[in-house]
Amino acid sequence: MPLPAVSISQAQQNHAALAGQPCPDHVTDVLAPERCALARKNISRWSSYQPTALYPLGGLAGEIGIGSLFYKDESTRFGLGSFKALGGAYAVQQALQQALDAQLADTTVTLDDIHHKRYPELAGDMTVVTATDGNHGRSVAWGAQRFGCQCMIYMHEHVSLARREAVEAYGAQVVRVAGNYDDSVRQADQDAKDNGWQIVSDTSYPGYMEIPRDVMAGYTLMTTETMDQLPGDIVPTHIFIQGGCGGLAGAVCADFWFRYGVDMPHLIVVEPVPAACLYESARAGEPQLVNIVNESLMAGLSCGEVSLLGWQILKAGARHFLTISDAPVAPLMQEMANGARGDPAIVAGESAIAGLAGLIGAMQDPALCKDLGLNERSQVLVFGTEGATDPALYRELTGTDAKNVTTSSNGS
Ligand SMILES: Cc1ncc(COP(=O)(O)O)c(C=O)c1O
Repeated sequence: MPLPAVSISQAQQNHAALAGQPCPDHVTDVLAPERCALARKNISRWSSYQPTALYPLGGLAGEIGIGSLFYKDESTRFGLGSFKALGGAYAVQQALQQALDAQLADTTVTLDDIHHKRYPELAGDMTVVTATDGNHGRSVAWGAQRFGCQCMIYMHEHVSLARREAVEAYGAQVVRVAGNYDDSVRQADQDAKDNGWQIVSDTSYPGYMEIPRDVMAGYTLMTTETMDQLPGDIVPTHIFIQGGCGGLAGAVCADFWFRYGVDMPHLIVVEPVPAACLYESARAGEPQLVNIVNESLMAGLSCGEVSLLGWQILKAGARHFLTISDAPVAPLMQEMANGARGDPAIVAGESAIAGLAGLIGAMQDPALCKDLGLNERSQVLVFGTEGATDPALYRELTGTDAKNVTTSSNGS
């Protein structure tokens, strides 16, 4: 099967990027390496923790003309189907620990106490709340169930029924909000203030910065696993990472910069055209709001407001910002499910393939390929951030069920 044609809709170089420089202090101020290490230590103690696979896709790399391609497959993460399992649930653990510690003046409450549900009544009185387009809410609901508190999840009207039911399966109460994702963020924020609930959001905004730092710190378990899994002699030259609010891309950028310093890979952010808030921010040199009129098929990336924390990292660390339409989504999901060219078959959801689409699109555009410094020696890393998180939509787009996609086990 020929590789699908992918056209890059817009491309913006970030002239403010600090290429070839060590990680600046302002990045470690935004996301401290110690905070990330604490998150990794705690999450890796949760029962059923297992690193997800990193697959070399040698066939695809050869076909598009690069040296090597690695795909981190988050479809199996904690049975929730996306990397988001790492962020929201860990932030719930943190939020509970801080709230209970403040309540119990004579006792020190630890993250371990929350993990082992040592204060069930106090935890049960607390309510965590978030807006979501699916995956983050699932993580927060799962964390709330795991650590024994109440949970309210706000979903805008376009979030599918399957995604709603997945959240309800963890005992959370769902509130539907008219409008788009950003409307649901504002409504959740207001209702939390009115009711004394704790917001556990994956996006950060003025006055709300601490919990999203823990969410991002949780994501670095995925990046640290990846760096540990890469073959010893391989430092990626390029990373293509999809952007919603930019929390994920910011965490990826920071963690790779911490480890590789001046050899930090060339980081490229990829977004859907109708929700390209990071791309617009890069063009303007400061955070921009995008009013989402049409929802992208890549639901997890359909976000019009940048995370301030994510942006503060990306404005220094991301070298390029690209946008793509929905056209390559289904063909690339099928490509991954088929496991063509000797590569493993992988369950990749709609938002999972955006980084890969950006890479393929760039390789099919000689001028852009040159701008990004991509060639036959490039060693590229992409993150398959979700599996079939909406099973009916997955079937509609690929023509098969996720359970029929059998991945051979050559990942590490
Ligand atoms: C599967 C998937 N990939 C990527 C992202 C983007 O993450 P962020 O919003 O932190 O940029 C999301 C966000 O929900 C997602 O669900």
